[in-house]
Amino acid sequence: MNIDLNETWFLGDVEIPTRLVLAPMAGVSVQAFRRQGRRYGAGLVCSEMVSVAGIQHRNERTLGYLRVGADEHPLAIQIFGSDAAAMAEAARMVEAAGADIVDMNFGCPVKKVTKTGAGASLLDDPDHACRLVEAVATAVPLPVSVKMRRGVENGSRTCLTVGPRLVEAGASSLTLHPRSAKQMYTGTADHSLTAELVSLVDVPVIASGDVTSHAKALSVLATTGAAAVMVGRAAQGNPWVLREILGEAAEPSREEIVAELLLFIRDTVRELGEHRATGFLKKFYGWYLGRGRFPRPFKQELVMLPTVSDAEAHLLAAAPGARFVLERLLSEAPDPEEEVLLDSLQLSIYGGG
Ligand SMILES: Cc1cc2nc3c(=O)[nH]c(=O)nc-3n(C[C@H](O)[C@H](O)[C@H](O)COP(=O)(O)O)c2cc1C
Repeated sequence: MNIDLNETWFLGDVEIPTRLVLAPMAGVSVQAFRRQGRRYGAGLVCSEMVSVAGIQHRNERTLGYLRVGADEHPLAIQIFGSDAAAMAEAARMVEAAGADIVDMNFGCPVKKVTKTGAGASLLDDPDHACRLVEAVATAVPLPVSVKMRRGVENGSRTCLTVGPRLVEAGASSLTLHPRSAKQMYTGTADHSLTAELVSLVDVPVIASGDVTSHAKALSVLATTGAAAVMVGRAAQGNPWVLREILGEAAEPSREEIVAELLLFIRDTVRELGEHRATGFLKKFYGWYLGRGRFPRPFKQELVMLPTVSDAEAHLLAAAPGARFVLERLLSEAPDPEEEVLLDSLQLSIYGGG
């Protein structure tokens, strides 16, 4: 079978330019991550899961997750919750924020989320799960996608009964991460379930779990018939893997690594503010500089530095040529002002309270 990852496909009426999707990851999928993912060939990027309750209470930090950059499209914003009216309202907010797709989280295995009746626990309450999809699909004209696990318990095949029902309720696409919620991230993703799901629904299915290379992407697409593969952990601090998955050999130079990290730092500071970004970025230092790319003591020194500016200076000292790569990246980036401003967004939706 001749499989081309650079083929276009459609999620609802949204054209997705490649068969590679960047996974939503809480604490990772900030705007900088998504923009970078698009630049490196992801056809679709997704926000981390955004709390519907947080949106309802106009929590400032939650609303910040709805900021959409001009160079992110096509973009899905993922919401999680368990109340149909609140989900519908959040979906309208997602639409107003400028997203192309509303994604619903039926896969989060974390207790804090499942105990509220949201995330993966919805797989055990299919009637309610369908009501939520229907409420969201009715509320907005955007395509609605659902991301789910195989089920709650180990060995569960619930996704195969719930999935088709979610499509009937209005889902235009399903993403399956075929591990159980109990499994968290242990064991392996069983993509034979993805293949079964593909055979049961007539909407595109996205295969998520353990896709880390071109060869793996090809085999998952060939054996499942999925429309696209989703890549999560392999892309943390490693946008080059996206190019490799698309079939282009892509080992970065030291200068490229440092330049991408510097751009990531700048974008993240702009998005989160310096205080929040300082702590947030520390895990990314290890991810970018790991994989044998930089010596361990260098990473340790970087994490210990008190400010982002110190980290930037330290990085530039290690790879002075990165300055020129960064200049090129900055000249190619769109104007940061070209993003949906939350103030106007709130006014346009909540004008009059
Ligand atoms: C740190 C982290 C955070 C995640 N957050 C989310 C999330 O917010 N929403 C979601 O649907 N999945 C989330 N996931 C699951 C991923 O989207 C993906 O399905 C999973 O990691 C398997 O893919 P991978 O093997 O390519 O990492 C998260 C995974 C990780 C590792």
